[in-house]
Amino acid sequence: MSETARLHTFPRSLPDEGTQGIADARLLPDEEFREAWSSIALPTDMRERMLRAAVASIRLRQAVPFDAVPLHGITLLTGAPGVGKTTVARGLADKIARTLGSPTPWLFLEVDPHALASASLGRSQRSVETLFGTVIEEMAMAGPLVVLVDEVETLLTDRAALSMDANPVDVHRAVDAALVGLDRLARRHTEVFVLATSNFPDAIDPALASRADNVIRVPLPDHTARRWILEHTVTAIARAFPGAHALTAAEALDAAAERGEGLDGRRLRKAVAAACAYRPETKGDPNGVTVQDLLGALDHARETA
Ligand SMILES: Nc1ncnc2c1ncn2[C@@H]1O[C@H](COP(=O)(O)OP(=O)(O)O)[C@@H](O)[C@H]1O
Ligand SMILES: [Mg+2]
Repeated sequence: MSETARLHTFPRSLPDEGTQGIADARLLPDEEFREAWSSIALPTDMRERMLRAAVASIRLRQAVPFDAVPLHGITLLTGAPGVGKTTVARGLADKIARTLGSPTPWLFLEVDPHALASASLGRSQRSVETLFGTVIEEMAMAGPLVVLVDEVETLLTDRAALSMDANPVDVHRAVDAALVGLDRLARRHTEVFVLATSNFPDAIDPALASRADNVIRVPLPDHTARRWILEHTVTAIARAFPGAHALTAAEALDAAAERGEGLDGRRLRKAVAAACAYRPETKGDPNGVTVQDLLGALDHARETA
């Protein structure tokens, strides 16, 4: 370890429990997040590309002036609900910390935009300013930081799409405050990396979209990914309930992956759980689940999707 690194080795504090707008805070690396990263089936190379882009962006921002390379350190993950955006974002945060390391531990903060947006009328602008300008700013001064703004559309609603009577002026001010806050963080702190997710990319303020260095569209799982997700789920169930073992057979998984076409990862996993309760005869005992139950549950999931 270098002299500087040793000098800078000190513990890191988390924000106070219950800080408004913070849903989760933890030091990185984190074992739970490491598992999250490998629990999501994505198209070949997508994970690696995502990580390379994040790491390169942080390195560039640390060494090259913003005026030369205007990187904001913001990556936006878009896609349908249930495709794994939040999970993969948490996993990416962990990977960034493991890859880059630091004498001061990396910190992870997850912003809860719902808590900010639902602050009573006239107060959400203030909540956003406090969050970005005080809470996150203080955390950024103490060392490297990954901020996850999950379901960012809640906060950064497209101002143009808002009708003034349905949405208070406060929403506009909150959006402005969030953008100013993100800009300031990026310019002042090159070791802040922002990951934002959105289920409705069309609803996002173009000002955010243009600040994002990288926009990644997370697709619905294809046949290979569906098979992998189903296998991952049934294997875990069969480990606890040996009667469910038949579901792990190759032909069963092939057929199930076929039947699950169009379903997102969350629905696929839930369909396996639903299969365990599909027929009244099993009385909800997962040991009694059959391949037919799984196929039936997947059909049902598709019909109700
Ligand atoms: N591609 C995928 N591979 C494996 N599991 C997935 C996938 N997509 C979603 N899931 C599962 O579905 C659940 C919801 O994922 P989440 O990350 O919350 O999705 P999103 O944020 O896109 O709505 C998680 O339990 C996750 O493991
Ligand atoms: Mg999510």
